[in-house]
Amino acid sequence: MHLLTGTSQHPLAAPRHAHYIKRLRSAALCLCALVSITSAASAQDQSATQADLIAKGRYLATAADCAACHTAPHSGQPFAGGYAIESPLGKIFSTNITPSKADGIGSYSEEDFARAVRDGIAKDGSHLYPAMPYTAYAKLSDEDMSALYAYFMQEVKPVDHAPEKTELPFPFSIRASMSVWNLLFLSKDRFQPDASKSAEWNRGAYLAEALEHCSTCHTPRNTFMAENHSKALSGGALGAWYAPNITSDPVNGIGGWSQDEIVQYLKTGRAAGKAQAAGPMAEAVENSLQHLNDTDLNALAVYLKETKPISGSEAKPRYEFGQPSVTEAALRGLPGQQPNENGFHIFSGTCAACHQPDGGGNKHYPSLFHNTATGADTPANLVATVLFGLSRTVGDETIFMPGFGPNAPFTDRLSDQDIADVSNYVLTQYGNPAAKVTAADVAELRQGGPESLIVKLAPFAAPAAGIGGLIVILAIVWMVRRRQRPATA
Ligand code: HEC
Ligand code: HEC
Ligand code: HEC
Repeated sequence: MHLLTGTSQHPLAAPRHAHYIKRLRSAALCLCALVSITSAASAQDQSATQADLIAKGRYLATAADCAACHTAPHSGQPFAGGYAIESPLGKIFSTNITPSKADGIGSYSEEDFARAVRDGIAKDGSHLYPAMPYTAYAKLSDEDMSALYAYFMQEVKPVDHAPEKTELPFPFSIRASMSVWNLLFLSKDRFQPDASKSAEWNRGAYLAEALEHCSTCHTPRNTFMAENHSKALSGGALGAWYAPNITSDPVNGIGGWSQDEIVQYLKTGRAAGKAQAAGPMAEAVENSLQHLNDTDLNALAVYLKETKPISGSEAKPRYEFGQPSVTEAALRGLPGQQPNENGFHIFSGTCAACHQPDGGGNKHYPSLFHNTATGADTPANLVATVLFGLSRTVGDETIFMPGFGPNAPFTDRLSDQDIADVSNYVLTQYGNPAAKVTAADVAELRQGGPESLIVKLAPFAAPAAGIGGLIVILAIVWMVRRRQRPATA
């Protein structure tokens, strides 16, 4: 200090030290400047890393599709909750996850937030219903939880609005009963990278299992509505739709798809000459998958091509069935000579304008042969598309097919029998002739039909149904024990 001011120096020392002092002064000035520059820089760095963290959180929230459930349909404020998820037990309302202190998660610490998202336990200690897919999010890494937390706390706008409360009938109203289900079916293990696989495969596995939760739709469920992991990704029913086998099996899965075809399908919802995404898969593409970067989409495809193959009942790949064909009677314009006259009639009048009289489609409309919806031995997706149509917005393009079921204009509506007939016509003519559709099948799919998101959410709501059975079993065990005790005492 005194060296800098030089005041307490011996005068004789001055000449010797003057230069030295000057240098020290300027060095100190430099140092000060440097400190302030570096601290400004590090503040800048910090805000840059903070911005990066928030951007990463935003990307993760899109990949995990948080908005789909936490935003009420029709002009709901983003993430303010209130979406009603229909479950067999009643409506489960999503909560407000904006940083509102009054109605949202504004008072959640990062730890509280992580516990809710990965363990299914709210800040007040109450259990969440598995309509919130915490069984998949349990695999999320700590770094990704931090990024998600930063995004929700710092970028999502707080909305003071309390969504409707979930009130399920007794005994499901006892949220603690979820702890039993969790004990049986919730694995709290974070994602474990597999060292024998590439970094790309591991990224794909993490995306598929933790974020995109593909298995919640594509994996069949057990009696308690938990996923049957031994049959992972081998196909599952979803209301009126069916999420097909997407294991690497070359016949019954997607083992025969190229890396590029898988990437195209996930990015746009269409792989030419193979398949297109309707129903819940269209929503997954629209809300989440199309927004992933190409590196991540390729990683997903690498992972999908190496999943455990699980075979099914189709004799050849779903996308190999059929060829362009026009019936004799149609060629000659001879009505009344079709084995399925009504189906032919409806096809010609209702479908052929877009899919073409030989079923070959054109550059705007897909062919009905070499199409997994008509080649599958489960014709649910064919029938559901005819009933409810298809709509998928990718980038600024909307791909649309009108439905001919309950939402169609009155004059375009087809009866259950009509839809069965046209489906059978399409299956025989262009698809898998072993698959058959009855009017009763159509009636059933019509009932299970989509209020779009609800279908998508059915698998998440379903676990609640399993709990009912579990509680009954536990209650029986408990009663039997109670009865036995006095007898043995
Ligand atoms: C498939 C639908 C669905 C998705 C996807 C979903 N949630 Fe949820 N979430 C819910 C429902 C429903 C609840 C309320 C459950 C209940 O009341 O038991 C909930 C509850 C929560 C809670 C507890 C809030 C509170 O009030 O205590 C948090 C936090 C949360 N979700 C965050 C997220 C985040 C972050 C994501 C994305 C990573 C996400 N959710 C994705 C359906 C979903
Ligand atoms: C909300 C439910 C749901 C989720 C989540 C979901 N899918 Fe699907 N998926 C479906 C349904 C339903 C179909 C059938 C769509 C159709 O044919 O119109 C489908 C079709 C597919 C197909 C085409 C299969 C074929 O043979 O036609 C592939 C590939 C696929 N999904 C991959 C994935 C991957 C990978 C993920 C996760 C990143 C995923 N899906 C997430 C429901 C879902
Ligand atoms: C206005 C044009 C139009 C009409 C009419 C039409 N479709 Fe489509 N269809 C489309 C479009 C567009 C798609 C989706 C293309 C895409 O996803 O890339 C589609 C897709 C399909 C699919 C594939 C669904 C899936 O899940 O993969 C089937 C099956 C189908 N149509 C059958 C029919 C049948 C049967 C009829 C008559 C009852 C019909 N379509 C009438 C335009 C039409």
